Amino acid sequence: MGMRKASGGRREAVTRILGIETSCDETSAAVLEGSGDDVAQKSLVILSQDIHRVFGGVVPEIASRAHLTSIVPVVQRALDEAATRLEDLDAIAVTNTPGLVGALLVGVSYGKALAFSRDIPLLGVHHMEGHLFAAALEHRDAVPPFTALLVSGGHTLLLDVEAWGKYRLLGATRDDAAGEAFDKVAKLLGLPYPGGRYIEQLAATGSSKRFSFARPMVRKNALPEDDDYYTFSFSGLKTAVLNAVRASKDLEVDKADIARGFQDSLIDTLVEKTARAANAFGRERVVLGGGVACNRTLASAMRARLEPAGVKVFTPTPRLATDNAAMIARAAFFRFERGERSGLDLNAYASSPIPGLVAA
Ligand code: KG4
Ligand code: ZN
Repeated sequence: MGMRKASGGRREAVTRILGIETSCDETSAAVLEGSGDDVAQKSLVILSQDIHRVFGGVVPEIASRAHLTSIVPVVQRALDEAATRLEDLDAIAVTNTPGLVGALLVGVSYGKALAFSRDIPLLGVHHMEGHLFAAALEHRDAVPPFTALLVSGGHTLLLDVEAWGKYRLLGATRDDAAGEAFDKVAKLLGLPYPGGRYIEQLAATGSSKRFSFARPMVRKNALPEDDDYYTFSFSGLKTAVLNAVRASKDLEVDKADIARGFQDSLIDTLVEKTARAANAFGRERVVLGGGVACNRTLASAMRARLEPAGVKVFTPTPRLATDNAAMIARAAFFRFERGERSGLDLNAYASSPIPGLVAA
Protein backbone atom coordinates (compact mmCIF):
# COMPACT_ATOMS: atom_id res chain seq x y z
CA MET A 1 0.00 0.00 0.00
CA GLY A 2 1.46 3.40 -0.95
CA MET A 3 0.47 6.91 0.10
CA ARG A 4 -0.54 9.83 -2.07
CA LYS A 5 -1.31 13.49 -1.40
CA ALA A 6 -5.00 14.18 -1.10
CA SER A 7 -6.58 17.62 -1.28
CA GLY A 8 -5.54 19.76 1.70
CA GLY A 9 -2.17 18.03 1.90
CA ARG A 10 -3.46 14.94 3.73
CA ARG A 11 -1.86 11.68 2.72
CA GLU A 12 -4.13 8.77 1.93
CA ALA A 13 -3.61 5.09 1.26
CA VAL A 14 -3.55 4.01 -2.38
CA THR A 15 -3.35 0.66 -4.06
CA ARG A 16 -0.96 0.03 -6.97
CA ILE A 17 -1.65 -2.77 -9.40
CA LEU A 18 0.41 -4.01 -12.34
CA GLY A 19 -1.79 -5.42 -15.12
CA ILE A 20 -0.58 -7.90 -17.74
CA GLU A 21 -2.50 -8.85 -20.90
CA THR A 22 -1.37 -11.49 -23.43
CA SER A 23 -4.64 -13.18 -24.45
CA CYS A 24 -4.32 -12.62 -28.20
CA ASP A 25 -1.89 -10.60 -30.28
CA GLU A 26 -0.97 -7.64 -28.07
CA THR A 27 1.62 -7.83 -25.31
CA SER A 28 0.55 -5.21 -22.82
CA ALA A 29 1.36 -4.02 -19.30
CA ALA A 30 0.04 -1.12 -17.23
CA VAL A 31 0.35 0.34 -13.76
CA LEU A 32 -2.74 1.81 -12.09
CA GLU A 33 -2.97 3.60 -8.76
CA GLY A 34 -5.91 4.64 -6.59
CA SER A 35 -8.83 3.25 -4.66
CA GLY A 36 -12.50 2.44 -5.27
CA ASP A 37 -13.67 3.98 -8.55
CA ASP A 38 -10.99 6.68 -8.26
CA VAL A 39 -8.20 4.97 -10.16
CA ALA A 40 -5.47 6.70 -12.21
CA GLN A 41 -3.55 5.14 -15.06
CA LYS A 42 0.17 5.70 -14.39
CA SER A 43 1.38 3.88 -17.49
CA LEU A 44 0.18 1.73 -20.37
CA VAL A 45 2.43 -0.07 -22.86
CA ILE A 46 0.91 -2.00 -25.78
CA LEU A 47 3.04 -3.91 -28.25
CA SER A 48 0.95 -5.12 -31.20
CA GLN A 49 2.17 -8.11 -33.16
CA ASP A 50 1.99 -6.95 -36.76
CA ILE A 51 3.26 -10.25 -38.16
CA HIS A 52 -0.25 -11.78 -38.20
CA ARG A 53 -1.33 -9.43 -41.01
CA VAL A 54 0.77 -11.50 -43.36
CA PHE A 55 -1.39 -14.55 -42.57
CA GLY A 56 -4.75 -12.76 -42.54
CA GLY A 57 -5.46 -13.87 -38.97
CA VAL A 58 -3.78 -14.56 -35.64
CA VAL A 59 -1.47 -17.60 -35.74
CA PRO A 60 -1.50 -18.94 -32.16
CA GLU A 61 2.00 -20.43 -32.18
CA ILE A 62 3.53 -17.20 -33.49
CA ALA A 63 1.54 -15.16 -30.96
CA SER A 64 2.91 -17.21 -28.03
CA ARG A 65 6.51 -16.88 -29.22
CA ALA A 66 6.16 -13.14 -29.76
CA HIS A 67 4.73 -12.70 -26.23
CA LEU A 68 7.73 -14.63 -24.87
CA THR A 69 10.24 -12.24 -26.40
CA SER A 70 8.35 -9.07 -25.46
CA ILE A 71 6.82 -9.70 -22.03
CA VAL A 72 9.92 -8.77 -19.98
CA PRO A 73 10.71 -5.44 -21.71
CA VAL A 74 7.01 -4.49 -21.94
CA VAL A 75 6.47 -4.98 -18.19
CA GLN A 76 9.75 -3.21 -17.40
CA ARG A 77 8.77 -0.24 -19.51
CA ALA A 78 5.33 -0.01 -17.87
CA LEU A 79 7.02 0.04 -14.44
CA ASP A 80 9.61 2.62 -15.58
CA GLU A 81 7.00 4.94 -17.11
CA ALA A 82 5.00 4.79 -13.89
CA ALA A 83 8.20 5.35 -11.83
CA THR A 84 7.16 2.30 -9.85
CA ARG A 85 9.31 -0.49 -8.47
CA LEU A 86 8.08 -4.05 -8.14
CA GLU A 87 8.20 -3.71 -4.37
CA ASP A 88 5.75 -0.77 -4.57
CA LEU A 89 3.04 -3.01 -6.05
CA ASP A 90 0.10 -4.32 -4.03
CA ALA A 91 -0.94 -6.87 -6.63
CA ILE A 92 -0.17 -8.32 -10.04
CA ALA A 93 -3.23 -8.83 -12.24
CA VAL A 94 -3.08 -11.01 -15.32
CA THR A 95 -5.62 -12.08 -17.93
CA ASN A 96 -6.04 -15.85 -17.57
CA THR A 97 -9.20 -16.37 -19.68
CA PRO A 98 -10.63 -16.33 -22.35
CA GLY A 99 -8.13 -16.31 -25.20
CA LEU A 100 -5.45 -18.38 -26.90
CA VAL A 101 -4.16 -20.75 -24.21
CA GLY A 102 -0.53 -20.61 -25.33
CA ALA A 103 -0.64 -16.80 -25.43
CA LEU A 104 -2.41 -16.51 -22.07
CA LEU A 105 0.11 -18.88 -20.47
CA VAL A 106 2.99 -16.49 -21.18
CA GLY A 107 1.34 -13.71 -19.18
CA VAL A 108 0.09 -16.06 -16.48
CA SER A 109 3.50 -17.71 -16.01
CA TYR A 110 5.33 -14.40 -15.94
CA GLY A 111 2.81 -12.83 -13.57
CA LYS A 112 3.09 -15.81 -11.26
CA ALA A 113 6.89 -15.71 -11.30
CA LEU A 114 6.91 -11.99 -10.41
CA ALA A 115 4.31 -12.47 -7.69
CA PHE A 116 6.14 -15.46 -6.19
CA SER A 117 9.59 -13.89 -6.28
CA ARG A 118 8.45 -10.67 -4.53
CA ASP A 119 5.68 -12.22 -2.44
CA ILE A 120 3.04 -9.97 -4.05
CA PRO A 121 -0.61 -11.09 -4.32
CA LEU A 122 -1.66 -12.44 -7.72
CA LEU A 123 -5.06 -12.00 -9.36
CA GLY A 124 -6.35 -13.75 -12.50
CA VAL A 125 -8.70 -11.49 -14.50
CA HIS A 126 -11.37 -12.42 -17.06
CA HIS A 127 -10.60 -10.59 -20.31
CA MET A 128 -14.24 -9.57 -20.92
CA GLU A 129 -14.57 -8.15 -17.41
CA GLY A 130 -11.55 -6.03 -18.37
CA HIS A 131 -13.41 -4.71 -21.44
CA LEU A 132 -16.35 -3.90 -19.17
CA PHE A 133 -14.16 -1.64 -17.00
CA ALA A 134 -12.31 0.14 -19.84
CA ALA A 135 -14.71 3.09 -20.17
CA ALA A 136 -14.50 3.72 -16.40
CA LEU A 137 -10.79 4.53 -16.84
CA GLU A 138 -11.72 7.72 -18.70
CA HIS A 139 -15.29 8.52 -17.71
CA ARG A 140 -16.13 8.95 -14.02
CA ASP A 141 -19.78 8.23 -14.73
CA ALA A 142 -19.23 4.98 -16.64
CA VAL A 143 -20.03 3.06 -13.47
CA PRO A 144 -23.01 0.81 -12.61
CA PRO A 145 -25.88 0.57 -12.93
CA PHE A 146 -25.67 0.47 -16.73
CA THR A 147 -26.37 -1.58 -19.84
CA ALA A 148 -23.17 -2.93 -21.41
CA LEU A 149 -22.48 -3.99 -24.97
CA LEU A 150 -19.14 -5.77 -25.31
CA VAL A 151 -18.19 -6.30 -28.93
CA SER A 152 -14.78 -7.77 -29.72
CA GLY A 153 -13.16 -10.15 -32.16
CA GLY A 154 -14.23 -13.20 -30.18
CA HIS A 155 -17.29 -12.11 -28.18
CA THR A 156 -20.57 -10.25 -28.37
CA LEU A 157 -22.17 -9.79 -24.96
CA LEU A 158 -25.17 -7.74 -23.92
CA LEU A 159 -25.21 -7.36 -20.12
CA ASP A 160 -27.25 -5.60 -17.52
CA VAL A 161 -24.77 -4.42 -14.90
CA GLU A 162 -26.52 -3.72 -11.63
CA ALA A 163 -23.22 -3.32 -9.77
CA TRP A 164 -19.58 -4.21 -10.42
CA GLY A 165 -19.40 -7.98 -10.14
CA LYS A 166 -23.16 -8.49 -10.71
CA TYR A 167 -23.76 -9.18 -14.36
CA ARG A 168 -27.00 -10.36 -15.93
CA LEU A 169 -26.24 -11.91 -19.31
CA LEU A 170 -29.07 -10.87 -21.62
CA GLY A 171 -27.72 -11.86 -25.00
CA ALA A 172 -24.72 -13.29 -26.80
CA THR A 173 -24.08 -14.39 -30.36
CA ARG A 174 -25.27 -17.72 -31.72
CA ASP A 175 -22.41 -17.82 -34.23
CA ASP A 176 -19.89 -15.15 -35.24
CA ALA A 177 -18.86 -12.35 -32.91
CA ALA A 178 -19.44 -8.79 -34.19
CA GLY A 179 -15.70 -8.17 -34.73
CA GLU A 180 -15.34 -11.54 -36.41
CA ALA A 181 -18.13 -10.58 -38.85
CA PHE A 182 -16.28 -7.33 -39.64
CA ASP A 183 -13.04 -9.25 -40.19
CA LYS A 184 -14.63 -11.92 -42.41
CA VAL A 185 -16.46 -9.38 -44.55
CA ALA A 186 -13.24 -7.36 -44.84
CA LYS A 187 -11.55 -10.49 -46.18
CA LEU A 188 -14.35 -10.99 -48.74
CA LEU A 189 -13.82 -7.42 -49.91
CA GLY A 190 -10.04 -7.85 -50.14
CA LEU A 191 -9.22 -5.57 -47.19
CA PRO A 192 -6.32 -6.12 -44.72
CA TYR A 193 -6.63 -7.95 -41.37
CA PRO A 194 -8.02 -7.06 -38.87
CA GLY A 195 -10.61 -5.47 -41.11
CA GLY A 196 -13.03 -3.61 -38.82
CA ARG A 197 -11.55 -0.18 -39.30
CA TYR A 198 -11.06 -0.67 -43.05
CA ILE A 199 -14.73 -1.58 -43.40
CA GLU A 200 -15.66 1.53 -41.46
CA GLN A 201 -13.48 3.74 -43.71
CA LEU A 202 -14.81 2.14 -46.88
CA ALA A 203 -18.44 2.25 -45.71
CA ALA A 204 -18.11 5.99 -45.13
CA THR A 205 -17.65 6.42 -48.89
CA GLY A 206 -20.48 4.04 -49.84
CA SER A 207 -24.18 4.52 -50.45
CA SER A 208 -26.79 3.11 -48.07
CA LYS A 209 -29.30 2.81 -50.91
CA ARG A 210 -27.81 0.02 -53.01
CA PHE A 211 -27.44 -2.98 -50.70
CA SER A 212 -30.03 -3.47 -47.99
CA PHE A 213 -29.22 -6.59 -45.99
CA ALA A 214 -31.78 -7.99 -43.54
CA ARG A 215 -31.29 -6.96 -39.90
CA PRO A 216 -30.42 -10.23 -38.17
CA MET A 217 -32.68 -11.30 -35.29
CA VAL A 218 -34.63 -8.05 -35.32
CA ARG A 219 -38.39 -8.48 -35.57
CA LYS A 220 -40.55 -5.45 -35.00
CA ASN A 221 -43.14 -7.37 -32.96
CA ALA A 222 -40.55 -9.14 -30.77
CA LEU A 223 -41.34 -9.45 -27.06
CA PRO A 224 -38.88 -9.53 -24.12
CA GLU A 225 -39.88 -13.11 -23.33
CA ASP A 226 -38.89 -14.30 -26.82
CA ASP A 227 -35.62 -16.20 -26.71
CA ASP A 228 -34.12 -14.13 -29.55
CA TYR A 229 -35.11 -10.74 -28.09
CA TYR A 230 -31.53 -9.95 -27.04
CA THR A 231 -29.68 -12.61 -29.04
CA PHE A 232 -27.27 -11.86 -31.90
CA SER A 233 -26.42 -13.83 -35.03
CA PHE A 234 -24.16 -12.57 -37.80
CA SER A 235 -23.38 -15.58 -39.96
CA GLY A 236 -26.50 -15.08 -42.13
CA LEU A 237 -25.48 -11.48 -42.76
CA LYS A 238 -22.00 -12.66 -43.72
CA THR A 239 -23.53 -15.12 -46.21
CA ALA A 240 -25.72 -12.35 -47.66
CA VAL A 241 -22.57 -10.28 -48.18
CA LEU A 242 -20.84 -13.26 -49.79
CA ASN A 243 -23.75 -13.61 -52.21
CA ALA A 244 -23.61 -9.91 -53.06
CA VAL A 245 -19.86 -10.18 -53.68
CA ARG A 246 -20.37 -13.17 -55.97
CA ALA A 247 -23.17 -11.43 -57.87
CA SER A 248 -21.13 -8.28 -58.34
CA LYS A 249 -20.00 -7.58 -61.90
CA ASP A 250 -17.31 -5.20 -60.69
CA LEU A 251 -16.33 -5.51 -57.04
CA GLU A 252 -14.07 -2.46 -57.18
CA VAL A 253 -17.15 -0.39 -58.03
CA ASP A 254 -19.52 -2.13 -55.59
CA LYS A 255 -17.38 -2.80 -52.54
CA ALA A 256 -17.92 0.52 -50.76
CA ASP A 257 -21.69 0.16 -51.10
CA ILE A 258 -21.55 -3.47 -49.90
CA ALA A 259 -19.43 -2.42 -46.89
CA ARG A 260 -21.98 0.31 -46.16
CA GLY A 261 -24.94 -2.09 -46.41
CA PHE A 262 -23.20 -4.61 -44.15
CA GLN A 263 -22.18 -2.07 -41.51
CA ASP A 264 -25.63 -0.41 -41.49
CA SER A 265 -27.29 -3.76 -40.88
CA LEU A 266 -24.86 -4.88 -38.17
CA ILE A 267 -24.94 -1.53 -36.34
CA ASP A 268 -28.74 -1.35 -36.50
CA THR A 269 -28.92 -4.74 -34.82
CA LEU A 270 -26.45 -3.79 -32.08
CA VAL A 271 -28.28 -0.52 -31.41
CA GLU A 272 -31.75 -2.09 -31.40
CA LYS A 273 -30.82 -4.83 -28.90
CA THR A 274 -28.92 -2.44 -26.63
CA ALA A 275 -31.85 0.00 -26.64
CA ARG A 276 -34.21 -2.85 -25.75
CA ALA A 277 -32.03 -3.77 -22.77
CA ALA A 278 -31.59 -0.19 -21.50
CA ASN A 279 -35.31 0.32 -21.80
CA ALA A 280 -36.32 -2.95 -20.13
CA PHE A 281 -34.10 -2.28 -17.10
CA GLY A 282 -34.65 1.47 -17.00
CA ARG A 283 -30.92 2.23 -17.24
CA GLU A 284 -29.73 5.78 -17.87
CA ARG A 285 -26.25 4.77 -19.00
CA VAL A 286 -24.92 2.52 -21.74
CA VAL A 287 -21.27 1.44 -21.76
CA LEU A 288 -19.58 0.06 -24.86
CA GLY A 289 -16.39 -1.99 -24.83
CA GLY A 290 -14.20 -4.21 -27.02
CA GLY A 291 -12.49 -3.48 -30.35
CA VAL A 292 -15.71 -2.87 -32.30
CA ALA A 293 -16.43 -0.01 -29.86
CA CYS A 294 -13.71 1.86 -31.82
CA ASN A 295 -16.28 2.19 -34.57
CA ARG A 296 -17.42 5.82 -34.52
CA THR A 297 -20.43 5.08 -36.70
CA LEU A 298 -21.62 2.62 -34.05
CA ALA A 299 -21.07 5.13 -31.24
CA SER A 300 -22.93 7.90 -33.05
CA ALA A 301 -25.82 5.61 -34.03
CA MET A 302 -26.06 4.49 -30.39
CA ARG A 303 -26.10 8.14 -29.22
CA ALA A 304 -28.65 9.19 -31.85
CA ARG A 305 -30.98 6.44 -30.69
CA LEU A 306 -30.52 6.65 -26.91
CA GLU A 307 -29.67 10.23 -25.99
CA PRO A 308 -33.11 11.63 -26.93
CA ALA A 309 -34.48 9.12 -24.41
CA GLY A 310 -32.14 10.54 -21.73
CA VAL A 311 -29.66 7.66 -21.86
CA LYS A 312 -25.95 8.59 -21.84
CA VAL A 313 -23.57 6.49 -23.95
CA PHE A 314 -19.93 5.94 -22.90
CA THR A 315 -17.25 4.57 -25.19
CA PRO A 316 -13.56 4.11 -24.39
CA THR A 317 -10.95 5.74 -26.67
CA PRO A 318 -9.61 3.24 -29.25
CA ARG A 319 -6.44 2.57 -27.25
CA LEU A 320 -8.54 1.42 -24.28
CA ALA A 321 -11.36 -0.20 -26.31
CA THR A 322 -9.00 -2.68 -27.95
CA ASP A 323 -6.95 -5.18 -25.95
CA ASN A 324 -4.81 -3.51 -23.29
CA ALA A 325 -3.52 -4.16 -19.78
CA ALA A 326 -4.98 -1.01 -18.18
CA MET A 327 -8.49 -2.45 -18.37
CA ILE A 328 -7.22 -5.67 -16.79
CA ALA A 329 -5.63 -3.80 -13.87
CA ARG A 330 -8.81 -1.69 -13.56
CA ALA A 331 -11.04 -4.76 -13.24
CA ALA A 332 -8.53 -6.18 -10.76
CA PHE A 333 -8.96 -3.14 -8.48
CA PHE A 334 -12.54 -4.13 -7.88
CA ARG A 335 -11.72 -7.78 -7.23
CA PHE A 336 -8.62 -6.99 -5.12
CA GLU A 337 -10.53 -4.59 -2.86
CA ARG A 338 -13.13 -7.30 -2.30
CA GLY A 339 -10.32 -9.48 -0.93
CA GLU A 340 -10.08 -11.81 -3.90
CA ARG A 341 -6.69 -13.41 -4.64
CA SER A 342 -5.52 -16.17 -6.98
CA GLY A 343 -3.21 -18.97 -5.96
CA LEU A 344 0.04 -19.87 -7.68
CA ASP A 345 -1.88 -22.72 -9.28
CA LEU A 346 -3.71 -20.15 -11.45
CA ASN A 347 -4.25 -21.63 -14.91
CA ALA A 348 -5.12 -20.33 -18.38
CA TYR A 349 -8.44 -21.25 -20.03
CA ALA A 350 -9.49 -20.81 -23.67
CA SER A 351 -13.02 -19.96 -22.61
CA SER A 352 -15.03 -19.52 -19.45
CA PRO A 353 -18.06 -17.44 -18.45
CA ILE A 354 -17.53 -13.91 -17.17
CA PRO A 355 -17.47 -14.04 -13.34
CA GLY A 356 -20.33 -12.58 -11.33
CA LEU A 357 -23.20 -13.78 -13.51
CA VAL A 358 -26.58 -13.52 -11.86
CA ALA A 359 -29.67 -15.39 -13.02
CA ALA A 360 -31.32 -13.78 -16.04
O1 KG4 B 1 -11.21 -6.31 -28.27
P1 KG4 B 1 -10.28 -6.56 -29.42
O2 KG4 B 1 -9.09 -5.67 -29.58
O3 KG4 B 1 -9.73 -8.02 -29.39
C1 KG4 B 1 -10.47 -9.10 -28.96
O4 KG4 B 1 -10.60 -9.30 -27.73
O5 KG4 B 1 -11.00 -9.78 -29.87
O6 KG4 B 1 -11.20 -6.52 -30.75
C2 KG4 B 1 -10.66 -6.70 -32.03
C3 KG4 B 1 -11.78 -6.57 -33.04
C4 KG4 B 1 -11.39 -6.98 -34.46
O7 KG4 B 1 -12.37 -7.87 -34.94
C5 KG4 B 1 -11.41 -5.67 -35.23
O8 KG4 B 1 -11.73 -5.80 -36.60
C6 KG4 B 1 -12.46 -4.90 -34.48
O9 KG4 B 1 -12.22 -5.19 -33.12
N1 KG4 B 1 -12.39 -3.45 -34.74
C7 KG4 B 1 -13.36 -2.75 -35.37
C8 KG4 B 1 -12.90 -1.42 -35.49
N2 KG4 B 1 -11.67 -1.35 -34.90
C9 KG4 B 1 -11.38 -2.60 -34.45
N3 KG4 B 1 -14.55 -3.14 -35.85
C10 KG4 B 1 -15.32 -2.21 -36.44
N4 KG4 B 1 -14.94 -0.92 -36.61
C11 KG4 B 1 -13.76 -0.48 -36.15
N5 KG4 B 1 -13.41 0.81 -36.31
ZN1 ZN C 1 -10.50 -8.17 -26.25
